[in-house]
Amino acid sequence: MAGMRAPGNAAVAQSIELERASVRLGAREIWGDVSMRMDRGEFVALLGGNGSGKSTLLKVVLGAIPLASGRVSVLGNPAGAANRAIGYLPQRRSFDESTRLRGSDIVRLGLDGDRWGFPPPVAWGRSAARQQAARARVAEVIEMVGAGAYAGRPIGQLSGGEQQRLLIAQALVRRPELLLLDEPLDSLDLPTQASVAALVQDVCRDAGVGVLLVAHDVNPLLPYIDRVVYLAGGHAVEGTVEQVITSETLTDLHGVPVEVLKASDGRLVVVGQPEAPAHHHDRHAHAAGDHTHAHAI
Ligand SMILES: Nc1ncnc2c1ncn2[C@@H]1O[C@H](COP(=O)(O)OP(=O)(O)O)[C@@H](O)[C@H]1O
Ligand SMILES: [Mg+2]
Repeated sequence: MAGMRAPGNAAVAQSIELERASVRLGAREIWGDVSMRMDRGEFVALLGGNGSGKSTLLKVVLGAIPLASGRVSVLGNPAGAANRAIGYLPQRRSFDESTRLRGSDIVRLGLDGDRWGFPPPVAWGRSAARQQAARARVAEVIEMVGAGAYAGRPIGQLSGGEQQRLLIAQALVRRPELLLLDEPLDSLDLPTQASVAALVQDVCRDAGVGVLLVAHDVNPLLPYIDRVVYLAGGHAVEGTVEQVITSETLTDLHGVPVEVLKASDGRLVVVGQPEAPAHHHDRHAHAAGDHTHAHAI
């Protein structure tokens, strides 16, 4: 077991390792025989259609969903044991426009709040010194994500991109060793997707934080990611974009003919990809311009 001050086992190079893992929810196997490995400091995109089990994989990494078979290790520990070293941004909820919580309050919740069921790593007690340290850290991460100009405004009145930057700041405020971001680009317009992806890469590089980022469309991430994990048909493939996003690999994974085309601007377009299972109606309304998701992966 890791000690109190270093929840991650720094001697272990992998931040996430799954070996022949499978998950069942109810009577259904969501995915099976999944092996993947992510090294510390890597920026990896987790791709796949709706219902392919991407969010489930993040919950497995957090120890919130047990494996039916196989093995998972996270920062050198069993899943769940090193959660204090993980920053997690759950799949997007929207903020009530009438909320009085300011952007900086949202970030502060990452320190004080019991946001996803785990107590804060440090007793941020009431002492003046602790309060001051907490405020300084909140200001520091707000600066890091470039949200200084609007962090004092009510969160519900900010744009999707501004909200997302503040939520990333919230996930970063405890200095995690690993960031799990569930569709942080969802419902952002294309330029904002690109700038949030660039921000995540900066954080990954500057702070040496590994990032596993769930996305539908790999295109906004192409300039930034090291590797991808692609979930489909109950299985996963991992590798570089060039290895994974090919007609051969995706045809194999989906079990039906799929063709990958490269547009003149470098975008990857997947043709013949089976429609996602019937979960489309769960999705939020997309911003204008987001229709590119229909064929880009
Ligand atoms: N508690 C549950 N019981 C049964 N099935 C579930 C449960 N939670 C999620 N699922 C199903 O598991 C599949 C994968 O879900 P999820 O991981 O959310 O997919 P993704 O994030 O890739 O869209 C979906 O078909 C979903 O309906
Ligand atoms: Mg999901």
